[in-house]
Amino acid sequence: MSDSPESVYKNTEWDDIPGAHRRTRPGTAPREQIYDTVLDAYGNQVSSKPANQPFLKGQRARLEHQARSAAQEESRRRRAVEKEKERQRKRASFGDDPPSLFPRIIIFILFLPFLCRFFTGSWDAGLGDELRPYFRKMEEWWPWRRELQEFTPLQLAFYDGTPDRPVYLAIAGEVYDVSKNRRVYGKGGSYNMMTGRDASRAFVTGCFETHLTHDVRGLSPDEMKGLEHWRSFFANHKDYHKIGHILNPLDPQTPIPPPCREEPDSAPGATANAHAHAKPAPVSHGS
Ligand code: HEM
Repeated sequence: MSDSPESVYKNTEWDDIPGAHRRTRPGTAPREQIYDTVLDAYGNQVSSKPANQPFLKGQRARLEHQARSAAQEESRRRRAVEKEKERQRKRASFGDDPPSLFPRIIIFILFLPFLCRFFTGSWDAGLGDELRPYFRKMEEWWPWRRELQEFTPLQLAFYDGTPDRPVYLAIAGEVYDVSKNRRVYGKGGSYNMMTGRDASRAFVTGCFETHLTHDVRGLSPDEMKGLEHWRSFFANHKDYHKIGHILNPLDPQTPIPPPCREEPDSAPGATANAHAHAKPAPVSHGS
């Protein structure tokens, strides 16, 4: 039987199966698998035979990668456009020089005391007293540290425990900042009477009403030791700092203060009463 060239490849029993066609080529390729052709990434018709698969796969991967990069590039471009639009919007409302963060922080800091005053009633919310000792400690190391100040009695009286001012007291001519202990030395505190002045005499006599003076004439050597005890108490206290001296020359014509009398029970506050009865000797207080 003579077969036409077409009938050589004809194999009707496999024709119904889509995709692969098994054909019998008499003699040379009895069971060859013939594959469909597919379009490769660049639109060429190529066979989908297994040998082509890695190549096709690589092509696909390359195209996917290119698509991803293009998408990323597109979103970057879109973001840049958005940013530019935002910048133009700002420029339209603030002019060519939009405000940076720095001036805003400065404005906030300048405004802060008013907020503190509004909410706490104090310009510094009490932070000044807390921080001042640390600044003073730091000042000891700074080359541009503040020199010790010289106070007149009137200048020192300004720092008498009034809120929103530092609290100073003087002893043996040395002025100390005791703001950290406002509870004791501030207005209404049990030792407020010692602030804003040099009340050295009261420190040793315990006479907190009539001996609020720096006049230590007539004190015994023991009492002078007591005064030194208190001076070193303030000098070595971790929260107090020496800030200067008081210029308070004593007029030799003024009489020596008379000895302390018992103070009446109406003396201000229980501690004051206790002081009225205190012996004129150094009281040992921890720092
Ligand atoms: C010569 C007699 C006295 C002097 C000069 C004197 C002076 C002082 C001073 C300067 C302080 C403050 C210390 C600081 O900065 O931390 C203080 C605290 C104190 N004193 Fe006297 N004092 C005397 C006698 C007494 C007596 C007899 C009592 C007993 C009732 C007393 C009770 C206290 C108390 C309780 C504190 C602590 C106050 C507080 O932290 O709230 N003092 N005294």
